[in-house]
Parts: sequence; C-alpha cells; structure tokens
Amino acid sequence: MTTIYIDDKPYEVREGSNLLHACLGLGFDIPYFCWHPALHSVGSCRLCAVKQFKDEKDSRGRIVMSCMTPVSENMRISVDDEEVRRFRAGIIELLMMNHPHDCPVCDEGGECHLQDMTLMTGHVYRRFRYKKRTFRNQYLGPFLNHEMNRCIHCYRCVRFYRDYAGGRDLDAFASHHFVYFGRLEDGVLENRFSGNLAEVCPTGVFTDKTLKRHYTRKWDLQTAPSLCVHCSLGCNTIPGERYGTLRRILNRYHSEINGYFLCDRGRFGYEFVNHHSRIRKPVTGKKGRGGNGSIPVTEGDEVLSSLAPLFHYGAGVIGIGSPRSSLEANYALRTLVGPERFYSGMSGKEAALVNAITEIYAAGPAPSATLRDVASSDAVLILGEDVMNTAPMLGLALRQSIRNQPMEAVKKMGIHEWNDAAVRIIMQDEKGPLFIASPQATLLDRLSRETYNAAPDDIARLGFAVAHDVDHTAPAVHDLPRDARALARTIAEELKNAERPLVITGTGCGSMSVIKAAANVAWALCRAGRPASLCFTAPECNSLGMGLMGAGSLEKAFEAVEQGGIETAVILENDLYRRADEKVVDKFLESIQNIIVIDAVETRTTGRADTVLPSASFAESQGTMVNNEGRAQRFFRVFVPDGTIKENWEWVRGMLSASGRVGGESWKTLNDITAALAEEMDRFAPVPGITPAEGFPVTGQKVPRQSHRYSGRTAMSADRTVHEPRPPDDPGSPLSFSMEGY
Ligand code: FES
Repeated sequence: MTTIYIDDKPYEVREGSNLLHACLGLGFDIPYFCWHPALHSVGSCRLCAVKQFKDEKDSRGRIVMSCMTPVSENMRISVDDEEVRRFRAGIIELLMMNHPHDCPVCDEGGECHLQDMTLMTGHVYRRFRYKKRTFRNQYLGPFLNHEMNRCIHCYRCVRFYRDYAGGRDLDAFASHHFVYFGRLEDGVLENRFSGNLAEVCPTGVFTDKTLKRHYTRKWDLQTAPSLCVHCSLGCNTIPGERYGTLRRILNRYHSEINGYFLCDRGRFGYEFVNHHSRIRKPVTGKKGRGGNGSIPVTEGDEVLSSLAPLFHYGAGVIGIGSPRSSLEANYALRTLVGPERFYSGMSGKEAALVNAITEIYAAGPAPSATLRDVASSDAVLILGEDVMNTAPMLGLALRQSIRNQPMEAVKKMGIHEWNDAAVRIIMQDEKGPLFIASPQATLLDRLSRETYNAAPDDIARLGFAVAHDVDHTAPAVHDLPRDARALARTIAEELKNAERPLVITGTGCGSMSVIKAAANVAWALCRAGRPASLCFTAPECNSLGMGLMGAGSLEKAFEAVEQGGIETAVILENDLYRRADEKVVDKFLESIQNIIVIDAVETRTTGRADTVLPSASFAESQGTMVNNEGRAQRFFRVFVPDGTIKENWEWVRGMLSASGRVGGESWKTLNDITAALAEEMDRFAPVPGITPAEGFPVTGQKVPRQSHRYSGRTAMSADRTVHEPRPPDDPGSPLSFSMEGY
C-alpha cells in the first residue's frame, strides 16, 4: 500500500494501480467514459482529469488524466480544484455537442452512464445551436440495436469487441468528426459475446434489442439475483421482469466467475420463459397414448388430490430427477419416492463422466479453477473440449490468459498492466502457450500455439504422454506417433515452466479416458511442484449437483421398470428422449401406468405423460445449483408466475402433503428442504449457509426486488384501481416483491 493526498487528506491505496481506479475505490466521484475495470485505460475521452501537484508548496499544479497516471508514494492531487472542474465540464460539453436530445425515448434511459456523468459534471445547458452530425445506423442482427448518433467516441465498443473478445467484424471507421463504430456493412454480429456491447457502451449506441421488443423503463423492472442455466459455469445474472414477462438478462458481477460479462447464449437465451409453448396449467389425460385427444385441464390442488393414492404405498413409484433442476427439487423428489427408487435422469455414460469429475476434484491435489483462475493462468492445455460451444465464458477467460506470459516482458519494461494501449502495442500478437487437442477444429484454434485434431482415445493418449513427460512416475505411452510424441514433450515443457499451469477438459467428447488423462497431467504437475489447477466443464447447470447426490442412472431406472412392480414414474424437468435411444424410452414409458411429468415447456416426454404439472422457469423459482467448479450457488425468484404454475419443489411437496407423508406439511419454505438435504447428506452441509436467510437484513426489512420511485407507486393497475395490489409473500427469502425495504 502507498499513501497519496487527495485535496490535502491522506489515503492508503494499492501500489501499481492508476489514480482513477484508486480514487473510485475510495468513493470519489471522478467522471470517466473510456476507462473500464476489465478493459483498463487508454486515455481517449479526457474526462477523468484531476490536478496533480509537485509537493505541498506547489499551488498551481497541472491537469492530468487520472486513468493514465500511476499512483506513487506521497503524490498530491485535487479532485475538486476549480480549474479541473471547469476542464471536465468543457470536455463533457464537447462530447455532448452532437448527442441527440432523445433521453425520453432512449433504450439506455435509467442506466445511462453518459447521463450520470453529464449531470455529475454540471453540464445542464446546451449552447451548441447548429445542425448536429448524424450517421446512418446498421442492422446488427436480432440481439443488438444500433443508434450511432448517440456515440461519444470513447472506443469502449471496439476495445471490448476486438481486443477483449476477439471479434473481427466490428471496427472504427473514418476519422476526425466522423468516426463510425459498426460493421463494414449491415449484418449479424459474429462474436459470441456481442451482447456485452449493450453494457460496455456508456450511452445508447448499442442496446439490447430483445428488451426493446417488449420495452419497459428500467426502473420499472422487478429483479433478483439469479444464475444462468445454459451451461455448467453458473454465471451470475440479473433477470428483469415486468407485467409477468421476462424482459432481459443483465450481467451480475462475480469476481471469481463471470466478472463483468456474459455470453450471448446466457444474455439472450431467456425468451423460452415467455414462449407460447410454456405449460401454464396442469394437464391430465392419456395424451399421446391413443387418448381421444381431449385433455382435461385441472386446477393444481385438485390434480394433487387425485394423484395422492399413487404415493400411499411408495414401492411402485420411481422418481427421475434432472441435472437442470435445483438440488432442492431433486432432493424433494428423492424424499417422495425413497433414495433407492430415485434416479439422476442422466444417462449411464453421462453420469459416469460427471461422477469421475467429482471424484477427481475430491481426490486432489489439483484444485478446481475458477474463471478468474483461468484468466490468470499462464500455460493451458485443453484436452478434448470445444469450450466456445460447451462453456463460452471459459473461452473468453482463455482469451485473457494467453496474454499473461507476454505481459511479464511488458511489466519488465516498467509498463503497468492497466495501460492498455501501450501494452497492446508492445505485445502485438504475442501469445502465451495454449495447446488444444480436440476431435475437430474449434473457434479458439487461432489463439493456440499448437492444435492436435484426433479421436478421443488418441487425445487421451497424448494427455497420458504429457503426464509422463512432466513426471516420469506417471505411466508411459508406447507407440505414440512421432508428431504426437514431440507435441507431448513441448506441452510438458511449457506446463512445467509455467507459474500457474492449467488443464481443461470436460464431458464434451464423452470420453472417460480424456478426463482421466487431464487429471493425470494436473496431478503430475503437482507432483513436480507446479501449482496446477484443473477445470472441467459439465453438460448442464446442475450436473455436478446431481453427481454429488449420487443417484442411479437412467438405465438403472429402465432396468427397475423391466423387473416389474413399478406403476408410477414422476419425471422432473427431463426430456428422456434427449438422453436415451427413442425405442428404449418408448418401451419404458409404455410399461408404466402413470407418468407424471413436471416441466416448464413442452417436450416429447411431456407429450407422453398422463399428468403434466406446469413448473416455474428459472426466473420464477428459487433453489441451489452446483457449477462446474463444485461451487453451490443460490438463485432467487424474480417474479411469481400467473395461474397454476408452481415451483418444481412445490409440486413435489404437494404430492408429499396430499399423501400425508413426512416432508409435505413440515417443509414450509425452500430453506426447510435445503436444511433437510444438508442434514441427510454431509457433502451438502455448507449449502444452507451460502445465502442470507430471511432474518438477514440488519434493519429487519427485506431487500426489495424493485427499485424505489419517488411516488412509491406504479401505474400497473391504474386503469382498474388506484390502490396498489398487495405484493405476493415470499416466506423464507431475504427479498420482497416490492419497492419497499432495505
Ligand atoms: Fe480517463 Fe477516459 S477515463 S481519459
């Protein structure tokens, strides 16, 4: 730490950081545009000016850009100096000269960085009276809207898109007054992280087109902390809802996982929640089984009472869980049917791979890597995994990791890591060691030192050979082709020489040998005294949670039914046709009298069910999921869905209650299920502690899901009544469905 003086008061700040970062961390309001905590400094907007003084005697000082100035011992600056204030006001007036007066209709309204900075700087009156510069906008695809007239030329968009995310089809064109940020011609943005432009852009040039489609003012959105359900990484999100419709997904900062960004699948893959194919009412009848096509629609409680007799004796009932449902929902189903009749819903092969991952993590010594660890690793081997498809944010982290080794040379030249333009000029296209062995070409190939395309077994052999080359006590691989042998030696050498080596693999190519080979490489490195870590990707958002629960595979369920005596199956959010051969699934479903499916959307399996119970989507429900690192995370309900949709665990609890079983009445809230799970299975013991309980807030109030408005009112039902409807209760949760609270 080092001491600096800001307006004559001493402050302790971290050595090596830049002044802007340090001052923002201390709570000073210095306006900025081009600086971004992940993209760092280029000093292009000139807004973050502060005054720097030589010493106590210097009263004139000089204006410097705080984002480009490293902190140094005893440095003296002023944030409040009159001259520097006027300078910042002048800059913002210049930047605002051509900015349209369209705030009332701008999609950025409510979270516009430009608006905040403009007001903060005190520029409230426009003196410019001439014709404004205008641009033609482009069609950029279904996800992003383009409105170039709002641009203030901070360059954040191209710096994120090209430098950080590796996109090639967005750039800065023309010069002087007419710099244009867009594509060479209209067309869909190709990069898989393009949606982050909506958050990176400090004004409304790039905005979320999916939100625009069902637009609402951002302060009217109801939000809650949630998790992305589209891969196993567990990126943190903030879904926003209004009038029962999910309107958008925003990144929620998590320093160890997604940081400031999301992939496009995670950001834009939410419309299924609003889709017309959502199941919104319970359905009973022999649908898809030669019934007469009339499907009686029943109310929730009625259907539960009609199902109650099925569960009285328990023995004839099996439960099939799901790696896309929460721990609690799966545990509730396990309680309903009994542990020996509960199955994970994963195929035998998938379950074996997931179990191998959990066992490797548990065995150590190589720890599981967070995405932050991935981004800071300096030599990486990927075995058999196409991470840009199976876990895109892992690919984004890897893009940053390849800069770490060349960065060491840059640092030796006395250039700070945050000095982005200087770093990139010196570094050019230098890349750290990234080796990719995969069955086919991947999108990360152009970043790699070397690639190796082969069948999964050959990839595994390469991995085992690398392990042997790192540490000769690992078994040797004989008959390796000459090129693979040379490659194994090179990889081993690079990994051994690295400070933070990393091995990545996953279930993508379905090979147990590949998973074992990756573990062997990491373990060999640990034995050789290198602090290697391991990163596995899993197929679904709670695959590892299901693996840790330790239930039998889908094939075991098929076998149980074949042996006879099973009359009822409860299937939790699982389309069996995606996991097993069609004929086998058909036979399985035909041999069971009562098939009850709990799901949010129609699938082939719901089409074969006798009873379909509508479950809440991720945005309408709560629970805990375990991500690819083995990290348990809680997601909260953003809104309560209309009609008879219930959370999946509520349906199962209803079945327990209707049949008078333990767990039914005694489980008042989700927390009760989490507690029961933690008590029964040691490995889940920490789970109840990961999230604040109901009594969490220090003021005794809950945390509101809606932002506060001065009127304390909405216009939600103004056409019918001036009275605000009573918000739904949320027992057990630290959050309230309200704008009132702490
Ligand atoms: Fe420092 Fe833009 S934030 S110049």
